[in-house]
Amino acid sequence: MKKEREHWGSTFGFIMATAGSAIGLGSLWRFPYIVGQNGGGAFVILYIIFTFLIGLPVFLGELIIGRRTQKSAVLAYKSLTPEGSNWGMLGYLNLLTCFVIFSFYSVVAGWCLCYILMSLSQFSVGKSPQEIQAIFDTLLASPGINLFWLFVFILINIGIVFSGVRKGIEKWSKILTPAFIIFLVVLFAYSCTLPGFGQAVNFLLVPYWDRLSGSGVLNALGMAFFTLSVALGIILTYGSYMKKDEDMPKNGAIVACMTVLISLFASLMIFPIVFTYGFSPQGGPGLVFKTMPVIFAQLPGNVLISSIFFTLLLFTALTSSISLLEVIVANLIEIREVKRHRATWFAGCLTFVLGIPSALSYTGSLFPSWEKIYGKNFFDTMDYLTASWAMPIAGLFSVLFVAYVMNKRDVEAEFKEGTSWKWLYPIWLFMVRFLAPAAVLVIILQEAGLLNFSKLFKS
Ligand code: PHE
Repeated sequence: MKKEREHWGSTFGFIMATAGSAIGLGSLWRFPYIVGQNGGGAFVILYIIFTFLIGLPVFLGELIIGRRTQKSAVLAYKSLTPEGSNWGMLGYLNLLTCFVIFSFYSVVAGWCLCYILMSLSQFSVGKSPQEIQAIFDTLLASPGINLFWLFVFILINIGIVFSGVRKGIEKWSKILTPAFIIFLVVLFAYSCTLPGFGQAVNFLLVPYWDRLSGSGVLNALGMAFFTLSVALGIILTYGSYMKKDEDMPKNGAIVACMTVLISLFASLMIFPIVFTYGFSPQGGPGLVFKTMPVIFAQLPGNVLISSIFFTLLLFTALTSSISLLEVIVANLIEIREVKRHRATWFAGCLTFVLGIPSALSYTGSLFPSWEKIYGKNFFDTMDYLTASWAMPIAGLFSVLFVAYVMNKRDVEAEFKEGTSWKWLYPIWLFMVRFLAPAAVLVIILQEAGLLNFSKLFKS
C-alpha cells in the first residue's frame, strides 16, 4: 500500500521551515562578502529587484508544481509531462546542484562549528583586530581541522534528516529561525552605534553603478536565487508537503521579504565593523568570521556572546542544509524506492567525499594548480558554477515549465486555491511568461559573452 505523503503541521511550521531554508549562510556569510566584492549599493539594489521580480515568481512556480503533484522534483517534472519527454532532466539538474551546494556549504558551516569551540576557548581575548583576522587565515590553511568539522557538520545533518519532515525539519526550524532573528536584530542595533555606520550605509545603499561589472549582474541574480533557495527543487519539495488550504502567494511573499531583510541586516551589521577598523570590504569568504569577533572582543561577556552568535549562525546554516539534504533524500526515496535511513546515509557520505576538495581549497594540499588553471580555487569554482550558472539556468527552465508546459487551467486552479490574493494571478503569469524568462536569458547571454548590453548604455 502506498504511504500517504507527510504534510506540514501548520502554516507557521511551513513558513519557518521555508524561511529557515532561505535564511542561512547565504544571507549572513555569502551576501555581505559578494556585495563587498561587487562594489556595494548598485549590487544590493539589483539583488532586491531580482528577488521580487524573478526569484519570487520562480518560488511560486515551484510551490505550484510541488503541491499539484505531491512529488519531489524528478518525478514531479516527469509526472506532468508525457512519457519520454526530457523534463525529468531538470529534476536531475536540481539534484546535482543540491549535492554540490551542500558540499561547499557544509565547509562554511564547519567553520561555524570551529568558531563555537574557539569562542569557548576565548580565542579573541586580549588580541588586536588584525590578530583576530589572522586566526581565520590560519584555520583556512589547516587541512585536518577543515575536514574534521566538515565531517561533524554532515553527521549532524544526517541525524536530523533521518527523523523525517515533521519531526525533524519542522520542529527544529520553529525554534531556531526566530531565535536567530532576534539575536541578529540586537547585534545590528549595536553596530548602529559604531563610527563606521554612516560609511557602511553609504556603501550599501547608495548605488554607484560604475562599480558594478557585467558579471555583477549575473552574480546578483544568482544571489537572489541562492538566498531564496529556489531553482533547486527545494521549494518544490516543500510545496509538496503543503496542504491545499495553505496560502502560497502570501507565504511566498513573507519568506522573500524576510530573506531580503535579513541579508540587509546582516550587511548593516558587518560593514560598520569593516569601516570602523579599516578592513577591506573585499574580505572574501572570511568576512563574517573576521569581523564579528572583533566587536565581540570589546564587549563584556565576550565568550558568551561570541559562542551564542556562532551557535545561532550554525543553526541557520543547519536549517538551510537540511533542506538541501532533504531534497536529495526525498528524490532518492522516490526514484530508487530505498528506505529513508539508507538514502540519508548514502547522500551524506557522498557529500562528504565531494566536500573534501572544497575543504582543502585554501590549504594547497589538493589540486595545488587548480586556481592557476581555472582562475578560482576549487571552493569558489563550485560556488560560481552552481550559484551563478546552474541556478539561473534551472530557474529559467522551471519558469518556462509552469508558464508553457503545464496545463494552464491546472496552474491557475493551483495558484488560486487557498489564497486570498487571487488578484495576483495575472501579474504572476505575466512575470513567468515574459519578464522572468527574458531577464534571465539576457543576463545569461551577457555573461556568456554573446551579448554586450553594457555597450548599449555607453555612447
Ligand atoms: N538559501 C540558503 C541560504 O541563504 C542556502 C541554500 C541555497 C539553501 C540553496 C538551500 C538551497 O543560506
